[in-house]
Amino acid sequence: MKKLNWGLIGGGEGSQIGLTHRVASTHDNYFNFVAGALDIDTEKAKKYGVNLGLAEDRAYGSWQEMLEGEKNRPDKIDLVTIATPNSTHFEITKAFLENGFHVMCEKPLTMTSEEARQIVEISQKTKTICAVNYGYTGYPMVIQARHMVQSGQLGKIRLIVSEFAHGHHSDAADMDNPRIRWRYDPKLAGNSSILTDCGIHALNMATFVTGQKIQKLSADFASCVEGRKLEDDAMINYRMDNGIVGRLWTSAVALGNQHGLTIKIFGENGSLKWSQEQPNQLYYTPLNQPTQILERGMPSLCEQSLNASRVTAGHTEGFLDAFANLYMQIAKAIYQNNKGEKIDNNKIWFPTATDGKHSIDIVEQAVKSAKNGSKWLDII
Ligand SMILES: NC(=O)c1ccc[n+]([C@@H]2O[C@H](COP(=O)([O-])OP(=O)(O)OC[C@H]3O[C@@H](n4cnc5c(N)ncnc54)[C@H](O)[C@@H]3O)[C@@H](O)[C@H]2O)c1
Repeated sequence: MKKLNWGLIGGGEGSQIGLTHRVASTHDNYFNFVAGALDIDTEKAKKYGVNLGLAEDRAYGSWQEMLEGEKNRPDKIDLVTIATPNSTHFEITKAFLENGFHVMCEKPLTMTSEEARQIVEISQKTKTICAVNYGYTGYPMVIQARHMVQSGQLGKIRLIVSEFAHGHHSDAADMDNPRIRWRYDPKLAGNSSILTDCGIHALNMATFVTGQKIQKLSADFASCVEGRKLEDDAMINYRMDNGIVGRLWTSAVALGNQHGLTIKIFGENGSLKWSQEQPNQLYYTPLNQPTQILERGMPSLCEQSLNASRVTAGHTEGFLDAFANLYMQIAKAIYQNNKGEKIDNNKIWFPTATDGKHSIDIVEQAVKSAKNGSKWLDII
């Protein structure tokens, strides 16, 4: 299969997520990194691109230059990843989709539900793929959890309790750190901070594992560090389709917590527990039986989980590999799309613009709920 061409916007030198995308996209040899507009600063963008091995004419100074430069090339990029701050996602994603490019957009897809609705519509109209980087869905044991839940091994699901609570924004003296500051600036981050930054990953994982959407919610937001305009801690109570009861705690001031992403799923016949800091184990407790530890890569796991694993059981596999699994799925979808085939959702999975929109709908209602005494609101 011919390798695909990939470009990156944002993810400049020193950024949090740039390296992860560069490693993940090229990990399984589906993509070549050929173009980029990597930094808000034009000169730094070009210099860093060339340092990373891009040809000079494809190390662009801005995303607009990159769009113009790429769109008429015979060897143009097949996929562009957008890893810039949140406020820019809508404009850049829209422009690339409208010009026929497939897009992998970092979460959150957009700042508003209306923008997300437009992105879903444009992607459908232009028959382009728009993926959203809920990278944690790429972990083999999360895929195994989804298989066990959706094949009925836990029976009816009663309750999902998840956390994405880290402590890395606990220091009030960090207010001017440029990597932290934009996350609490409504102009750059939108109308929510920690829920949009982290909590939506855990909520997306609940929908990914169960295949159910969130129907209604009640939110409580707090800004624990004085002066922050947006929340650095939030608790969300929610209900999913089929009546599943959901609870989410997300925080940036849980001092001592590192990444802090865990999910627990309680069904009438069994429960599952997975933690991103021990990603290779899934704890399974069948009703009235002892807890079992399911290990990544063991032959008894489902086919999709095994296909998402590269190294034998017992070796470390983690964050970069999980993101790489999304790139692998997107590459397969692009190959199908290029052949004019409909994407086979039974075999190919990755979070799409529709999932991204569901998250933004949740954030919008959570913000309203938090401002109205945690009133329960439907997700429209
Ligand atoms: N999926 C995940 O697990 C995950 C993890 C971290 C960050 N993110 C998301 O990735 C995005 C970037 O986050 P980050 O933590 O890497 O931010 P960051 O502040 O560390 O880096 C942002 C980079 O984008 C560049 N940039 C800003 N505006 C630009 C523009 N208009 N054109 C080109 N480059 C531009 C900056 O120069 C910088 O290099 C955010 O949307 C964030 O929510 C996702």
